[in-house]
Amino acid sequence: MEVVILADEREVGAFAAGRIASMIDKHPDAVLGVATGSSPQQTYRVLGEQVAAGLDVSRVSAFALDEYVGLPGDHPQSYHRVIAETVTEPLGLDPSRVHVPDGMALDLDAACADYEDRIAAAGGIDLQLLGIGANGHIGFNEPTSSLASRTRVKTLTARTRADNARFFDDPDQVPRQCLTQGLATILDAHTTVLVATGTAKARAIARIVEGPVQALWPGSVLQLHRRATVVVDEAAAAELELADYYRYTDSQRRLWETERRTD
Ligand code: F6R
Repeated sequence: MEVVILADEREVGAFAAGRIASMIDKHPDAVLGVATGSSPQQTYRVLGEQVAAGLDVSRVSAFALDEYVGLPGDHPQSYHRVIAETVTEPLGLDPSRVHVPDGMALDLDAACADYEDRIAAAGGIDLQLLGIGANGHIGFNEPTSSLASRTRVKTLTARTRADNARFFDDPDQVPRQCLTQGLATILDAHTTVLVATGTAKARAIARIVEGPVQALWPGSVLQLHRRATVVVDEAAAAELELADYYRYTDSQRRLWETERRTD
């Protein structure tokens, strides 16, 4: 796992956006996995600036990680709408290439199977952008999610509902169920980039990077991924035992990249 520790949220967003932009540069028809929530917002802002500066995203497709069950697509907190407002519209993606699981489907299991089929038909996800819950969830794969899980219906923990209550007028309005890509679905992405900032994420980051791979801390499954990057600010890195080692390896990587550019 590549761990990159940066000064603040701005640098974290710029780093993640840089990785995404260079992938789109190389593969103009790239398939992006996109997250909602606060963590990736700075990444989307910087990416928006790169699009304004000429990055061509006209052939890029996107798949959201998850969606609440029972919120109509025009509800301000449905991930259909959140993705439209924070990703599709500001980046100028083609809406017909942006996918979100259908949390209003009568047959939710069929909607989950259909989502997996749509990802496969697009050729799989090239780069999956992730945030992390304070309880270690990625997507909405709550603690004890199967490490082999695919897109399915999950029940949100009380902790996640409380964390997400800030987006709703009344905490009772936070849905109790969601559809989420599974941990194995996320592992299938060619590359993953997880962004986390702030002290509230420090414990989860230490557990998923340095703890055992275990369903109790679902993000730890990324240790099984060959191209997983975790990008954190100093606050979210606070509980990492080997922080100095990650800073050293990152400085070596930068040195090596500079040398390669001047060769
Ligand atoms: C969102 C998602 C979640 C969030 C996580 C962190 O699509 O899949 O895993 O990334 O709950 O949320 P924030 O970034 O709001 O702290």
